[in-house]
This record gives sequence, structure tokens and C-alpha cells, in this order.
Amino acid sequence: MTTFNPQNGTINRQWVLASRPVGAPALSNFNFLESEKPTPKQGEVLLRTVYLSLDPYMRGRMSDAKSYAEPVGINEVMVGGTVCRVEASHHPDYEIGEWVVAYSGWQDYSISDGSGLLKLGKAPAKPSYALGVMGMPGLTAYMGLLDIGQPQAGETVVVAAATGAVGSLVGQIAKLKGCKVIGIAGGEEKCRSAVEDLGFDACIDHKSPDLAEQLAKTCDKGIDVYFENVGGKVFDAVLPLLNPSARVPLCGLISQYNATELPKGPDRMPMLMGTLLVKRIKMQGFIVFDDYGHRYNEFSQDMMQWLQEGKITYREDLVEGLENAVESFIGLLDGKNFGKLVIKVGPDEL
Ligand SMILES: NC(=O)c1ccc[n+]([C@@H]2O[C@H](COP(=O)([O-])OP(=O)(O)OC[C@H]3O[C@@H](n4cnc5c(N)ncnc54)[C@H](OP(=O)(O)O)[C@@H]3O)[C@@H](O)[C@H]2O)c1
Repeated sequence: MTTFNPQNGTINRQWVLASRPVGAPALSNFNFLESEKPTPKQGEVLLRTVYLSLDPYMRGRMSDAKSYAEPVGINEVMVGGTVCRVEASHHPDYEIGEWVVAYSGWQDYSISDGSGLLKLGKAPAKPSYALGVMGMPGLTAYMGLLDIGQPQAGETVVVAAATGAVGSLVGQIAKLKGCKVIGIAGGEEKCRSAVEDLGFDACIDHKSPDLAEQLAKTCDKGIDVYFENVGGKVFDAVLPLLNPSARVPLCGLISQYNATELPKGPDRMPMLMGTLLVKRIKMQGFIVFDDYGHRYNEFSQDMMQWLQEGKITYREDLVEGLENAVESFIGLLDGKNFGKLVIKVGPDEL
């Protein structure tokens, strides 16, 4: 494998999808290729990837099942949000050295005509934050919680995947709105961090055999908002505790992303429908950029201010090296990340 060398970097390393995973993705579903660094034409820029965001939705892009977005084709570069530097420019709006947010995928270099790029300036303080707290996961947490969840002071908010990119922000925003916040996370260390570092009132380990009992005890006044990131047994524990008129922003179902068949056991649909009906519960799915992309400024103003005031804690799980992207992504679906998973692809300096 070639290690990135900015001094004589003429090679573009790329992760391409070699075959569609069945169940959990494996290294064998991908190929790590090397090609020539591309050359920009008139009206184009050459981008060098510095940070690559790894996110659960990418599992969906590896599958050709019908979804809200097109799958990645076989032998195509894996898609993904990136923070890049402009290394060469034949575009009037971009200068060499500028930082941009792009969607250039799992590779060192890409060409852009400028469409879809978001400028970060020449010296952003924390460029990788644009992939997390100030980017897609931040917008997801903010809009899902505030627009769909509508939390009121004094209410109980429960969030799953509580120390992850989205969940950690959902819980902290709910605290800022005066709610009691209960997280659900995998393992003692993550649960401790949710309370001690993020300020949640409690956090329950979904690996505990008595998850449902612990949750019921902790949510002694029921649940008013449940921010769903996970599904499966976590949702089973939450459903009976939902209060009348509870809101459920349906953000993700990560426990199902590697599933190859429906879960075994009794049909739980009648209980779900019955609970939604008699308790008048509002459950609403959303796809962040489709539904809320136009409200980015509203989110970014609030989030920037909260960060500046020290009201939001943000943890990144930064992994060095594009060569580690597949392994890190497989770990994400297994709870191995602790915070927003970002790959450091190349150096910050030009
Ligand atoms: N609707 C949208 O537009 C939108 C946008 C962004 C994200 N999302 C969704 O939001 C959710 C969280 O995304 P994220 O980026 O913040 O990821 P993340 O929380 O940083 O990472 C994923 C976490 O999910 C948890 N997890 C994995 N498998 C699980 C299982 N079987 N049961 C319980 N927990 C499990 C793990 O945490 P633990 O170790 O704590 O279990 C893992 O660390 C995902 O479902 C994602 O698809 C949706």
C-alpha cells in the first residue's frame, strides 16, 4: 500500500466497491486501487482530501435495494463527505489553498467544477468540524430534535447511539432546552462519558440483559421524545414507555443495516400500531438534506454560538490513513467508534 506523500504525490488512492455486501461488509467487498492524480481542465479545480467522513448511511449505498438515493456502482469509488484543499485551480471562484467541503468520496484526489462545494476559507480553525458538529450530523440532530421532536422544558428525552455523532448532539441540545435526558449506548465507558462529559442525566447500556427494566426505572415519568437512531431491541424497550402525545423523530435504524431478513419472533406490528393510535404518538422519518438542507443557516448560527460559549462538547474519533477506511467503517456498524468517525486522509498543509 502507498502511504500518502504530499511532496511527490502523483498517485490517487481510491476505495472502490468490488461487490455488494450480504450482511456485515467485509474487506473483500472493496478494492484499494491506485490511479494517476487527475488534472483539472478549464473551469475545474483539483481537490486533495484531508478529512473523510464515515457515516452509517454508506451501508445503504453499498446495497442496490430501493432507497432514497442511488447505490454506488460496482467498481465505483465509495461516496462520502470530505474536507479538502484546493491544490490546483482553473476556476475563477477558487484559489489554491482554500478549504472546501465536498462530496468527493473515499480517495485522495478529485476534480470539481465547483458545484456542491462549500467554502471554509483559507484557515478554518477546525476544518473537520464541517463533517460533524457543524455539518450533516449536527444538522440532523438539531432539526430532528427541534422540528420533529419539539422538546419542552421538563420533558424526558431519550436518545439512542447516545455518544455518536448525532446522538451526542441530540442529548446536549435537549439539555439546553431544559429537558431530562437519558442516553442509551453500548458499554460502560460510553455510558459514563454520556453523563460525565456530555451532561446527560443518565445513560443505559443496551448490552445489559435488563435494558427494559433499567430504562423503565430511569424514565419514571415516561418518555416524551424518543430520538430513534437504532431500532431493534432498543425500540422494543422504549415503546411501552412512550407517553401520550410523545414525538419520535425517526432518524436511523442502524441495528438493521446489516440484516438479511426480518427479525424472528412474534409480529410486533399490532402493538406498535395500537400504541401509536391510543397514545396519539407522532413518529416521523426524515432525510436530513432533502428535508432540512434549506435550513442550514438557522442551525449553524445556533450551533456556532453554543460551541463558542462552551455549551456543546464534541468528540471526534479520528483515524489516520485512507487505507484504514474500510476497517473503520465496519467498526462503526459494530459500535467501535467513540464519537464522530473521521478519517485523516492527508496532511493539513499544502
Ligand atoms: N435521517 C438522516 O438524515 C440521518 C442523518 C445522519 C445520521 N442518521 C442516522 O443516525 C444514526 C446515528 O448516526 P451517527 O452518524 O451518529 O453514527 P454514530 O452514532 O456515530 O455511530 C453509530 C453507532 O450506532 C451504535 N450501534 C451500532 N449498532 C447498534 C446496534 N445493533 N444496537 C444499538 N446501537 C448500535 C453504536 O453505538 P453504541 O456503541 O453506543 O451501540 C455505533 O457507535 C444512524 O442510524 C444513521 O443512519 C440519519
